[in-house]
Amino acid sequence: MNPVRLKGLTPDEFERLCLKLVQKSFQAFAVRRGGISDPDQGIDIEATSGSHRLGVQCKTGRLTVGVLRDTLRQLIRYPHRLDHFILMCAQHPVPSTLDEFRQWSSNAETTKGSISTVELWDPDRIVSELDAYPGVLERITQASRGPIFAVPFPRPHCTGREAELRSLYESFIAGKKSQVAVSIVGLGGIGKTTLAVEYAYRFRESYPGGVYWINAKEDILAQCARLGLLAGVANTDTETAVAARAFLKTRRRAERSLIVIDDLDRPNQLNQPLVDELSLAECESEFLITSRFTGLLASGVSRHVLATLSERDSLASIPRRVPCNLKSSK
Ligand SMILES: Nc1ncnc2c1ncn2[C@@H]1O[C@H](COP(=O)(O)OP(=O)(O)O)[C@@H](O)[C@H]1O
Ligand SMILES: [Mg+2]
Repeated sequence: MNPVRLKGLTPDEFERLCLKLVQKSFQAFAVRRGGISDPDQGIDIEATSGSHRLGVQCKTGRLTVGVLRDTLRQLIRYPHRLDHFILMCAQHPVPSTLDEFRQWSSNAETTKGSISTVELWDPDRIVSELDAYPGVLERITQASRGPIFAVPFPRPHCTGREAELRSLYESFIAGKKSQVAVSIVGLGGIGKTTLAVEYAYRFRESYPGGVYWINAKEDILAQCARLGLLAGVANTDTETAVAARAFLKTRRRAERSLIVIDDLDRPNQLNQPLVDELSLAECESEFLITSRFTGLLASGVSRHVLATLSERDSLASIPRRVPCNLKSSK
């Protein structure tokens, strides 16, 4: 029994360990969700075992009442029905958190609501589960990590846009250098974000260093810090600026990675110092930028102007978006 082993794991390693445990203990098909890269997602791992759907939230930092409440708030907003929820902790929760958890897990929002059973696995429980599956922890090594895919949207129903997808990919290849930026520009609502999300899903295998998402309309520093956490170069106690810097620095050394910057409307956002004179543009990553701003070309960013979908493709996208009962109504 050595909980210290768990405490020493990065958030990414701990999540991978929890994933393996869920697969083993529940004979479940399990996948990692956005987790910390997506504050609205609410869970880190989703699994199905028979007809049961399980959700797991992994915590490497100390579980305090504040953190617990935040976690539960996100969980309650989680859009899919869960039969079972497990909170897995790499460190022992502080005692008052346990009371809060017991109280919460027996109240109306859970047992009488949509989630029928709830459990907290503290490090002792996790380590005892690990004993049942020797070898699981050992496999959580740097080499066994899959690339991070931190796109906070499900894959869209993207119709058409085949030529655009190909041409975006070719622009990245033509860029040659490890740092290249390609932009999708066009009017609001024309489909820039949809195309960027589809690109990320379609070409994720080409980015062994990971795919990351930043919304330029929100606090970029805070998002980089969260990505640092996800990439395992920072932990929950790391200061925002330090975590963000660690993320940007890691990109410099990493293998080919993609950072999508959605809705960038000021070109200098790419070049202005974020932390210690370090800007996004200096990061050795490929950038896919969406913008309504047509002047983005000035900063050496290759530009793809997006036109409206062809009539045929627009029509093809409609049936999925119109509820069936509307089709027959007058
Ligand atoms: N290729 C596409 N196929 C189907 N629907 C699309 C496509 N492109 C955009 N849409 C739909 O159009 C709407 C606006 O697209 P979005 O990507 O958000 O636009 P933008 O980012 O340019 O403002 C979304 O609801 C999206 O689902
Ligand atoms: Mg958009």
